[in-house]
Parts: sequence; C-alpha cells; structure tokens
Amino acid sequence: MILIRNLKEKIGAEVSLQGWAWNVRGSGKIKFINFRDGTGFVQVVVPADDVSPEVFEVVSRLTQESSIKVSGKVVANKRAPSGVEVLAQNVELVSPTKDYPITPKEHGVEFLMDLRHLWLRSPRQQAIMRIRHVIIRAIRDYFDDLDFTLVDSPIFTANECEGSTTLFSTEYFGEEAHLSQSGQLYAEAACMAVGKAYCFGPTFRAENSNTRRHLTEFWMVEPEVAFMDLAGNIELAQGLIQQIVRRVLDLCAQELAVLKRDLAPLEEVIAGEFPQVTYDEAVEILRAEGVDFQWGDDFGGGDETIISGKFQRPVVVTHYPTEIKPFYMKKTPKNPKTVCNMDILAPEGYGEIVGGSQREEDYEVLLAALKEDGLNPEDYKWYLDLRRFGSVPHSGFGLGLERTVAWICKLAHVRETIAFPRLPHRLYP
Ligand code: 4AD
Ligand code: MG
Repeated sequence: MILIRNLKEKIGAEVSLQGWAWNVRGSGKIKFINFRDGTGFVQVVVPADDVSPEVFEVVSRLTQESSIKVSGKVVANKRAPSGVEVLAQNVELVSPTKDYPITPKEHGVEFLMDLRHLWLRSPRQQAIMRIRHVIIRAIRDYFDDLDFTLVDSPIFTANECEGSTTLFSTEYFGEEAHLSQSGQLYAEAACMAVGKAYCFGPTFRAENSNTRRHLTEFWMVEPEVAFMDLAGNIELAQGLIQQIVRRVLDLCAQELAVLKRDLAPLEEVIAGEFPQVTYDEAVEILRAEGVDFQWGDDFGGGDETIISGKFQRPVVVTHYPTEIKPFYMKKTPKNPKTVCNMDILAPEGYGEIVGGSQREEDYEVLLAALKEDGLNPEDYKWYLDLRRFGSVPHSGFGLGLERTVAWICKLAHVRETIAFPRLPHRLYP
C-alpha cells in the first residue's frame, strides 16, 4: 500500500490507497475527493467517463469521513499543495458515515473538545500530533546520544516532590498513594547508579488552574546527572531545546505550514547561546515595565510573558528565592536566601518550559530543609540515603512536553498539544 506522503515519487504509476474522504465536491460529470490517509491529503479526481456508473454513484453519495479504498494513476499537478493528484479508476466504500458532526464551518472550542476523538482527524490536529512525535524523538535521541540511560520513575508514589497542594491522592491497598508530580527524586537515585539518567513519563498536578499553560496530566522529561553543577545543567537544557527546534525545522516543514507558524523566531533559537539573567535582574525588568513586584514572590504567567518578551531566544532565569522553591534545591553558597536553580522561559510570550536546579547533596542540610518544609524525614529515608552513601554534587531539570509543543506550534492553549487533554473540567473523552 502506498502512502500519500510518498506519492510524489510515484508520478505515472498506478497505486492503491486507503483512507477517508475529507470532503467531496464537483458536478454530475466530475467529482473531486479531498482524500486523506493519515500521512497527508491528496485530491482524487473522478471523471464520470473514466469510471463505471456504479463507482461514480458511490462517489456521488460519499459523505465526510467515510472510509474508502482508491486505485488510480498518480499525475503531476503544479497547483496541488502536494504537487500531485490521483486520477481514479476505482473507488470502493469501506464504511459510510451519517451526519459527521464536525463540518467545515466554525465550531466552538467546547464543542470540539467534546468531540476530541474526531477532532484529531483535522489537518491542524494531525500536524500538532506529528510535531509532538518528532519532539519526543528528538528528546530521546538527544539523551541517548549523550550516553544517558532511560530509567523511568513510578507513577504511584508515597512521597511528594513539588509540594502537597497539587497532589492527587488515591487509595492503595489501605494506604494513601499519590500520583507522581515529578520523577525527579527517583531520577536522582538512578543517576547515582548509572551516572546520567533520565525519565520521561506522565506526571500529575491537582491544580485547579484554568490557564492556557496548565494541564492536570502532562508529560515531562527529567534528566539527572551526577557530578554536574548548575552551569552544566543550563548547558544541557540549552542543547536539548536547540535540538528539538532544529529537528522540527528539519522534519516538519509541512506541518508548520499547516499551522501557519512563522519560522524566523524558531530559527533565532538555534542561532546562538541563550541569554541568562538572575531572579534579581528579572525583578528589575518587571519593575521597569511598571509591575509592582515584591522581591520574594514567584513570577505569575503574566510576569513570565513580560520577562521572556524582552528576549529573542529562550531566557534562563537563575537563583530564585529559597522560600518559594522546594526543599531539594541547593542553596547558593554565598547567598542562602537564593537557590542554585534555573527556569527557562520560552520566547513569544510562552513562559516557563523548564524548571531545574542543582540538588542539595549534604545530608544534614537536606534534613534541615525537609523539616523546614514540614515534611517527615521518615518518609524520605530512602532519598536521604542517597546523601549517606557516596553523595556527589548533582543536577537535573524537567522539561514540560506540552508547553514545549504549544510554543513550537505557537498554539493559544496547551489543550491542543496532547491527544486527550486532562484539564480541571475535562475528563471526557
Ligand atoms: O517546574 P516544575 O514543577 O519542576 C519539577 O517538577 C522538577 N521536579 C523537575 C526537575 O527538576 N526534574 O515542572 C517542570 C516543567 C515546567 O517547567 C513546565 O514546563 C511543566 O513541567 N509543567 C507543566 N506543564 C503543563 N501543565 C502543568 N500543570 C505543569 N506544571 C509544570
Ligand atoms: Mg517550575
């Protein structure tokens, strides 16, 4: 079976295709099927004189999203987006549709979200899914080529990683378990075993935040490296983001065109080093813009948009106040009011896509930080063990897949970045 994506190399050949009719137009003499097979769209031309009356009848009655098999000849057509079209010899109906609910007219978002299982078939959603896939491969290749070992973390956990306010809880054979907010603590254990480890899986946040950046279930890749400091961590993250962007530019020209994505801002991302500012400097940027910002507060989405808007490339913001960051971050040696952390804010107003830090490697300091955060050291006994048996300086970060896809595809909301998004008010389909 030939794929539409490969039709250009088949000009003059007779081919068989299988897929779905996106729409049909034409007259009693000739019909045009906009036909898709999952790898692309192509126009199938059906002249009444070239096919049997039965076949022409089938085509005349074709409804949107009916599944069909098509055989015919591939011919060049300069005006077609793919450069080719198919002159049909036979069209066979596999399964007809009745009242396909998504029509070419404009639909509201909630209507489309209720029909997400069908909405995925639209050219735009297909393009996003394919770019997401290319990004996932770029991520895996990046770490694999740097000799990382994939060590996935559990989803059922007993410990919190990113604070108790966003934990989903579930009953676990008479015990309380939580859905993992981050695989980091386990990745730290893994990096002490294999040196460079990463995990890449779904994570969960019970945040009732109805913003364009928040999902309750999202995918995160989390590298963790023994003997790496904050500077190494920043370099690793920059390399990852640049590899992702380079891959998408190389492999997804067609998909980016469907999304009408302007390429210049993406090309800028791979043109050089990322700018770096400290939290203090970021606060100055906000104040210069007239934001009444208190030192010690965390940046909100609007603040991040202002800060990242000052730069053409992703900007690395370091050394946030210790108070607003989790217990595991290493305090800045000369200024324990801040930690050795970094957030990376994507350009074009997208805000945080990466959060990471150097980790506290000293047993006593970590124990004190745990207690200060009101956590029970007994629950973190295994994690503290990592500081008792061959502790080393180490660092890592988490890159949120959906926020990265949203930025690269320049989408208005993360809900379109994953096939079946989980949002505070959406568990269906
Ligand atoms: O900044 P976060 O909370 O960091 C951690 O979880 C660390 N333990 C990671 C590590 O150091 N290994 O989350 C990391 C990234 C964010 O920068 C963002 O891209 C994404 O995860 N993220 C979300 N994406 C979608 N919806 C949400 N509710 C998200 N929360 C975080
Ligand atoms: Mg963060």
